[in-house]
Amino acid sequence: MILSIESSCDDSSIAITSIADNKLLFHKKISQEKEHACYGGVVPELASRLHAIDLPNILEECKPYFDKLKAVAVTNQPGLGVTLLEGIAMAKTIAVTKDIPLLAVHHLKGHIYSLFIEKEAILPLLVLLISGGHTQIIRVKSLEKMTILATSIDDSVGESFDKTAKMMNLGYPGGPIIEKLALEGDENRFDFPIPLRNAKLIAFSLSGLKNAVRLAIESLGGAENMQKQDKCDVAASFQKAVKLHLIQKSKKLFAQEKIKDFAIVGGASANIYIREAYEKLCNEYGKKLHTAPLEFCSDNAAMIGRYAVEAYKKELFVEPYEIDILRTKKQQSGMLL
Ligand code: KG4
Ligand code: ZN
Repeated sequence: MILSIESSCDDSSIAITSIADNKLLFHKKISQEKEHACYGGVVPELASRLHAIDLPNILEECKPYFDKLKAVAVTNQPGLGVTLLEGIAMAKTIAVTKDIPLLAVHHLKGHIYSLFIEKEAILPLLVLLISGGHTQIIRVKSLEKMTILATSIDDSVGESFDKTAKMMNLGYPGGPIIEKLALEGDENRFDFPIPLRNAKLIAFSLSGLKNAVRLAIESLGGAENMQKQDKCDVAASFQKAVKLHLIQKSKKLFAQEKIKDFAIVGGASANIYIREAYEKLCNEYGKKLHTAPLEFCSDNAAMIGRYAVEAYKKELFVEPYEIDILRTKKQQSGMLL
């Protein structure tokens, strides 16, 4: 069995995965959303202190599995430095005291492997990763061979949902709130610009759209003067623009890439409106759409454990003194290789 730890942002999570059959034997996650909600985003120092309380409590529940552990895995990049350190310190301690190997897992690769929890991997695969920190399309040939084909040049999809919600004083995280409001909104009321619509470039950009949303909110007198229906209409029109942007760029990529299997992962992949648009697109292009169960879209240790099973089989171990948070901008930006 492998014990895996995730603490890259505001979720403290530990999982136990069986190496022989990928079975998820234990999984627990404590989210800190409520604690950060009043700030409209994650406060790193607060998140770190909460991990220091929650991770040991979850670990306590894993005691029955301790004697059967063959390795310990931990997210080591990308993420918030101070929160990553909490998980890394715990993983190093377990590796040293139990004398078992340590596996360092890239958080985004973990998101990709959320597709294969309790399943065999399907490769090669094209993956759209839409999370709070990243927006990328990745060609996944194997565990080690992953290539970023498109990336956001500014904000990520999840972040744009969070900021739209914040501008309307709706709380955090914004994704589920905006998706819910949009169900009651008129998506054609605001004609928000589709980012990079006329650019040949296959890339993503969300900051211009965010600015257009801000101007619309201001024109309605600001969040405090908006009616509920106004907020629903802004949410729906914004979500529609995000969808059209993602689909337009994905179409361009689909025309170039022959891989038949396509997946959406990351926190924002829980969005049903976006999933439905991709279901249609994949049918049109003869591709098969894969998604993770909703509970494994946002950050969790089960996906880290599933990746770790593959890494364990390839003996991709690191020494405890070798693993640390990464400091350069390039390393933190989520480069896969
Ligand atoms: O993958 P994740 O848990 O953390 C990162 O690795 O960043 O993603 C969190 C992000 C947040 O920005 C959240 O607002 C967004 O995923 N999200 C959604 C939905 N559920 C979560 N965005 C759009 N629609 C949703 N239903
Ligand atoms: Zn994530």
